[in-house]
Amino acid sequence: MTRVVVVGDLMTDAVARARYALARASDTPAIVTMHGGGSGANIASWLAVEGAEVAFIGRRGADITGRNRDMELMGYGVDARLVMDPERPTGTCVVLVTHKGERTMLSDPGANAALSPEDLPRDLFTSGAHLHLSGYTLVNEGSRDAGLAALDMARRSGMSISVDCASSAPLDRTGAEPFLEWTNGAKLLFANIDQAKVLTGRDDAEAAAKVLTAWFPQVIIKMNAEGALWFSNGRPDPVRVAAEPVDKIVDGTGAGDAFSAGFLPPWLAGKPPAESLAAGCRLAAKAIMHLGARPPF
Ligand SMILES: Nc1ncnc2c1ncn2[C@@H]1O[C@H](COP(=O)(O)OP(=O)(O)OP(=O)(O)O)[C@@H](O)[C@H]1O
Ligand SMILES: [Mg+2]
Repeated sequence: MTRVVVVGDLMTDAVARARYALARASDTPAIVTMHGGGSGANIASWLAVEGAEVAFIGRRGADITGRNRDMELMGYGVDARLVMDPERPTGTCVVLVTHKGERTMLSDPGANAALSPEDLPRDLFTSGAHLHLSGYTLVNEGSRDAGLAALDMARRSGMSISVDCASSAPLDRTGAEPFLEWTNGAKLLFANIDQAKVLTGRDDAEAAAKVLTAWFPQVIIKMNAEGALWFSNGRPDPVRVAAEPVDKIVDGTGAGDAFSAGFLPPWLAGKPPAESLAAGCRLAAKAIMHLGARPPF
């Protein structure tokens, strides 16, 4: 089994689900719950519960929250290599969910913004292992050098590499060109439709994927309720898989992270793309039917 090394962000998600329409500048009753989050740490957690051998490299604060997040990762079976920041707090994201289910996120990266190349344990970068780099590490300026160093170390040690695109707004601020340049050498790119549009200017998933195969041998586009497609450099047609039916959308947070974690193990084992896509959609559906972005314990 291929060991997966995830480099990325670790957060606490404070999810507030409003009962009524938001009363701006006043009070609105809500259900507020705290969850482990951070795209990179979410992927590592889902991978671990899927039975993969997985390490996570990230940065936390010297606070109780950071300790809880660390223990939580261990509980999932992740080999968590967290560096403690002496000043910055563990990252927190306020997730505001309106009574209609619309999500707005206010994200404070905290210690994640100081992840540095020295934080990367050399022993994890070995030939035969796989690096998954969270796009947030690259689009956030403070951690960019660490992301670039991880890519460099992985290339030098002959590891295979996958990258995701973080989120469309910060990706747009970063710019398509630098992002594509930095991630050169990755074998696989994960993007959702909005991110694919930022990178290529194309609305159509298939057209965007085709453009992206000029940079990446393999490209995945996640298409919400329409599932996902895989496109490979040199192939005439994409492989499409429909989304798994979902009884009730409880919380969409982390669907994309779960998708990546479902996709990677069969893909690394050399399974056909349709099978790997289906595994991604299956795990994404599981994430959607449960509160929080992490697997249920
Ligand atoms: N309404 C839905 N019904 C069923 N499956 C869904 C639905 N929305 C998303 N999915 C599944 O989740 C996967 C990832 O969702 P999406 O395309 O939104 O990616 P993402 O934007 O990276 O994720 P997120 O919105 O969590 O950041 C999809 O490929 C699909 O399999
Ligand atoms: Mg989405």
